[in-house]
Amino acid sequence: MADAANDALIVFQPSGKRGRFPRGTPVLDAARDLGVYIESVCGGRGICGKCQISVAEGDFAKHKVKSAADHLSPAGTTERECAANKNVDPENRLSCLATIEGDLVVDVPDAFRIAGQTIRKDATTVGMHRHPAVRLCYVEVEESDMHNPLGDADRLVSAIESSFDLENVRIRFDLLQTLQRTLRKADWKVTAAVNTAGDRPEIVSILPGYNETLTGLAVDIGSTTIAAHLVDLMTGEILASTGVANPQIRFGEDLMSRVSYVMMNKGGRENLTEAVRKAINTLVGDLLKMSGTPRGALLDAVFVANPIMHHLFLGLDPTELGQAPFALVQSDAVRCRADEIGISLGKGASVYLLPLIAGHVGADAAAVLLAQAPQREDHPVLIVDVGTNAEILLWDGKAVYAASSPTGPAFEGAEISCGQRAAPGAIERVRIDPETLKASFKIIGTEFWSDRPEFFGASKATGVTGICGSGIIEIIGEMLRAGILSPDGIIRAPRTEAEAPYLVENGRTWSYVLNDSNPRLTITQNDVRAIQLAKAALYAGVRLLMDKADLSELGEIKLAGAFGSYIDPAYALLLGLVPDCAVENVTAVGNAAGQGALTALLDVAQRREIEREVRAVTKIETALEPKFQEHFVAAMGLPNSADPFVKTRTHFDLAPLEPAAQPGDRPRRRRRRER
Ligand code: FES
Repeated sequence: MADAANDALIVFQPSGKRGRFPRGTPVLDAARDLGVYIESVCGGRGICGKCQISVAEGDFAKHKVKSAADHLSPAGTTERECAANKNVDPENRLSCLATIEGDLVVDVPDAFRIAGQTIRKDATTVGMHRHPAVRLCYVEVEESDMHNPLGDADRLVSAIESSFDLENVRIRFDLLQTLQRTLRKADWKVTAAVNTAGDRPEIVSILPGYNETLTGLAVDIGSTTIAAHLVDLMTGEILASTGVANPQIRFGEDLMSRVSYVMMNKGGRENLTEAVRKAINTLVGDLLKMSGTPRGALLDAVFVANPIMHHLFLGLDPTELGQAPFALVQSDAVRCRADEIGISLGKGASVYLLPLIAGHVGADAAAVLLAQAPQREDHPVLIVDVGTNAEILLWDGKAVYAASSPTGPAFEGAEISCGQRAAPGAIERVRIDPETLKASFKIIGTEFWSDRPEFFGASKATGVTGICGSGIIEIIGEMLRAGILSPDGIIRAPRTEAEAPYLVENGRTWSYVLNDSNPRLTITQNDVRAIQLAKAALYAGVRLLMDKADLSELGEIKLAGAFGSYIDPAYALLLGLVPDCAVENVTAVGNAAGQGALTALLDVAQRREIEREVRAVTKIETALEPKFQEHFVAAMGLPNSADPFVKTRTHFDLAPLEPAAQPGDRPRRRRRRER
């Protein structure tokens, strides 16, 4: 019988959980008893080296504990050998083998804590919580025996339940067909992959022998590009990343044309589904090759996508999304097996798709919400993810509102006479001298501005090829500042001979010559109109949400997505893409949808969290709101013909909004803008 008076006190940091245990109790057992989750793949056999802890030495008055390293049993041969094989930090001990011999305060480093934070210096995942859906459990299963009538699967389950903190484990039915052969071939030593995301832990894969490689896939299926990361689920480190253009583009440039393709063509849905799945399977193959990891270890995947991409990927008919009331097949999160949807991951791999917010606000917006968590702020936050469709999320301090706005592909360079996608050679920054109207610019791939002598040599490899989205935003803003554009978006005629080379006639309108040498690049009146229409759609969507939330001001604006990452926030304001705000409170947050996919991949608890959050979001269908048109018309002005944009005008030293701006008006004061 245990002598309670002789029990030792152990305190686990950082949780502070504490308890008394008989001397000789393995630290890992004490941890499990107290609900402290320490990593383990080998179930305490001294093989994996993942159960590391360190002793905090000293007098901990707060806990009434005098803790010392020698209050643990000395390391035996198994521990020393494992420590050497697995490069265990000399300060650390293996909690499955070290036993409690006196009072202790023990630290569980993040890297070895289930639900700890990722520690690798990977900018994308550092600090994210790591508690993957799938766990690896190495077990040595009791051999079959005449005196033990239990089946092989029952003994496998009981071996897992007795060595790991898992209960009520079940095995996936299809594994039963090969189980007996697998166990005997592997000499009863196997690593089971257990998926803990469902209502009961489920064995989804059984690998012979000891395995400690476990990877996951996070994919953002955009209508233009598909981006994927392969992640080491044991550390949170991104092993490889890649992307590809969405091959569905050949069936339709934008989302609605793809829905039309489905409606108009027999087998259209199947063609689109096959195209996206094929592209993803190719990406998976590339990622495995790049990282040198086996396919069998790829056991979990998270996908985010807008509703139409989501439906097509899953093989669901998106026709209803092409017309009001934009009914989804299912808005809730989807869980299925990878092989059920033709995705080639490891055998038994699961797939998770984040919930959709509404008919036009997808799992990608849910992922943005998960990654950015505006609900943690005490001031109103607007997040816009700008693409061919802009997703808009607004937190007003009490609730999250969501909508999408059809901005079209103008921000991605399409619909602009000399526009192109962001690629080396594309103009991404522009400044116009308001006195001479001459432009200088910077292209992707070189640091030098075009008016520097170094530019010629630096741009030789790519040449100047066109203007990408961020360049278009800047050039329209600079044309406005330089007085080339009126506040309602009309390009004016030249006023002097010196201006004539820069402002050229184009039918009944005028164009601005950005670059006269090879290639000749001009901004036409139609280009300006295309940007005005796109930005007005975005602004009107945002204003509708602000109306619903009864907000007249925003505290912070976050620009998400690839486009949002490259545009200069000041120019986004100058164009009136988003409502007026202090320039320093408008920031780019990168690919937040991709970050959300990674978050959900690394931490299964976050999946439940976002499912709960999404149910609470107030969805606004912009197309049905009568005020949309009113906001849209006002937003055709630069920056806006109804909203005075006082902060932005002050930042750019522009004249205040005049009540009845006329075509040809120019800002009263102009000055050379700093780069
Ligand atoms: Fe594997 Fe301790 S649990 S070495």
